[in-house]
Amino acid sequence: MQRSQINEILESGDAFFRSFGYVLPPFAYWSPDQMRAPEASMIVERGMGWDITDYGQGKFDELGLFLFTVRNGDPADLGSGRGMLYAEKIMISRKDQLSPMHRHIVKAEDIINRGGGTLVLELFTSAEDGSIDREGDVSVPVDGRMRTLPAGGRLKLDPGESVTLMPGIWHAFWGEGDDVLIGEVSTVNDDRTDNVFEMPIPRFTTVEEDEPPVRLLVSDYENLD
Ligand SMILES: [Fe+2]
Repeated sequence: MQRSQINEILESGDAFFRSFGYVLPPFAYWSPDQMRAPEASMIVERGMGWDITDYGQGKFDELGLFLFTVRNGDPADLGSGRGMLYAEKIMISRKDQLSPMHRHIVKAEDIINRGGGTLVLELFTSAEDGSIDREGDVSVPVDGRMRTLPAGGRLKLDPGESVTLMPGIWHAFWGEGDDVLIGEVSTVNDDRTDNVFEMPIPRFTTVEEDEPPVRLLVSDYENLD
């Protein structure tokens, strides 16, 4: 994606969050230089902050996702089973904008419709080798009640509703009718290693620097001086 496009999307996404009364933490507005300072080291190490992706396919309106990681623990604590083993994200799925089919290895996630349109999730369970099981039913908790759908069934969440996706549940999602504000509460998360996509696509975009960044993305952190 071009940096100018990212700067624009970032500004409109922030306005969308605020239109629901959702206000981001102060580090959301730190300059690239502030993000390079030692004060930002925990934020950078844990991959907190802005995350705009087109999955490397160059058609953000059709295939993409806007995320902000508000908090994230340390995956090293998973071994002991104690500590900050959780994460929180706030996201935007635009109307008819697909987040492509994927599953997670470690992360369980609650995907929450926090407002806007209807959030549609297409769901599959995993075969024994981890690939998509295109035959078997898929069962997921939806706000404390189990729901069972046929393979590839579409779960529709209206504002206020949520689903729990355990590791291994294949999922793709998009907004229907309008853009959707999505909350995510999950296991501590490393997005560099914990996404398995159906198609061979990268998790993060590649940036073409046609103007200076207003804010850094999580995917920029590995290129910090
Ligand atoms: Fe996911």
